[in-house]
Amino acid sequence: MSNSGKRVESAGDLEQAITYPTEAYTCRVYAQAERDKLWRKVWLQAGRVEDIPEPGNFLTFDVLDDSVIIVRSADDSVRAFHNVCSHRGRRLVDVPKGRRNVRGRKSQFICGFHGWRYDLEGRNTHIPHKDDWQGALGEDCVSLSSVNVDCWGGWIWINLDSQCEPLQDYLAPAVEMLDPFELQNMRCRWRKWGVFDCNWKVAMEAFNETYHVSTTHPEFNQYGEFRGWAKVHGLHSNIGYEAARDMDKNQSAKLRLGTNADPRISTAQMQEYTWEKANTNTTQTLVNAARRLVDELPEGTPPGEVLQHWLASARADDEARGVVWPSVDPEHVGKSGTAWQIFPNFQIGHSVNNMLCYSARPNGYDPCQCIFEAAVYELYPEGEEPATEWEFCPPTEEAWCYVLSQDFSNMAAVQQGMKSTGFKGPKPNPYMERSTANLHRNLARYMETGSPSKL
Ligand code: FES
Ligand SMILES: [Fe+2]
Repeated sequence: MSNSGKRVESAGDLEQAITYPTEAYTCRVYAQAERDKLWRKVWLQAGRVEDIPEPGNFLTFDVLDDSVIIVRSADDSVRAFHNVCSHRGRRLVDVPKGRRNVRGRKSQFICGFHGWRYDLEGRNTHIPHKDDWQGALGEDCVSLSSVNVDCWGGWIWINLDSQCEPLQDYLAPAVEMLDPFELQNMRCRWRKWGVFDCNWKVAMEAFNETYHVSTTHPEFNQYGEFRGWAKVHGLHSNIGYEAARDMDKNQSAKLRLGTNADPRISTAQMQEYTWEKANTNTTQTLVNAARRLVDELPEGTPPGEVLQHWLASARADDEARGVVWPSVDPEHVGKSGTAWQIFPNFQIGHSVNNMLCYSARPNGYDPCQCIFEAAVYELYPEGEEPATEWEFCPPTEEAWCYVLSQDFSNMAAVQQGMKSTGFKGPKPNPYMERSTANLHRNLARYMETGSPSKL
């Protein structure tokens, strides 16, 4: 599809209606170019810090042709290396076909081909028959190639570009906005992944807006209608609910509190529905506290007071079992919204006591496939964190729960529709779907093609 040439030049906040070509979703050449222009240039979330607690603990992370070993070194620092032996290029740690990644513990890495060895700092420690090279093997040429790595939010981030900017600069202003939520203290309740029949952008764009909620998730409509916004922050964006001037309103919108019905009952119903049918966005503590509202508050209690009471009693319940929610200034909660889209492929759906995160990346060079991942986190009493591992799941209701399967139901269908000769290009809602517009404006800068143009 031709780009009309009316480029959106302004670095403003994409208030006007735009469109962009479908090549980013469907073109194999574009997908191939993403490796060098995008995936090898950006900071990528590659795992959780708690997954490598002790020296020698390591995990692998793969994106297209690159595989990275992330290891906790003997000095307790987190390091990352290309997962490739410097001798003849064998993968150092095998990631079995069909596995998302490998996690384990080693005191050293030994290549299975000819036995070259590396320590936890990536230095070569042994080469059989080294003298045969007659002194030509300098330390640099035999050590593992390092990869930039840093940690924030409890995640390990890697960047394959040796010239990259620091992680904190790259993530700004998400760091400042999300630090008060202390995301690094949360631990996974479940984490699942799958191979989906859509481009990775289609998968991410199923979650980066609230415009779809009333149609894709009609069951939530009975709990009230709330208008969502999306704001641009350079590479990144966030979404939230309008009139979120304080925590009450932001949270009440997210939780669909505010119906005409008895808010004590609708809060409990909404919590039970979310817990059972979405298995995310709430906790057992919040559900239990919501169930008690009808006993603890008189009939006719205004919605705002119901919300206050519910959150205060859930906070107290958690505190009693050693789980302390961070206290975040209500104005800040309002500004932070309900989810952040970290360029290019990570979404953090934060709150003070739980979060839901999505990511998606290519599965090889077929633009119509991706690796999709979702993980749900919450706060646990120390020592009671569950041990979880990535679970491979097909995109079904049985595997992922009803609400997520509603979102999945659009993905392959969007991918198919994008390929139609009759489709004239995406037209994201300039207010509610601005995160998608921003994703494509930024992608175009990296990819040097596909700039959004005015509708
Ligand atoms: S390729 Fe690794 S030791 Fe030969
Ligand atoms: Fe959804």
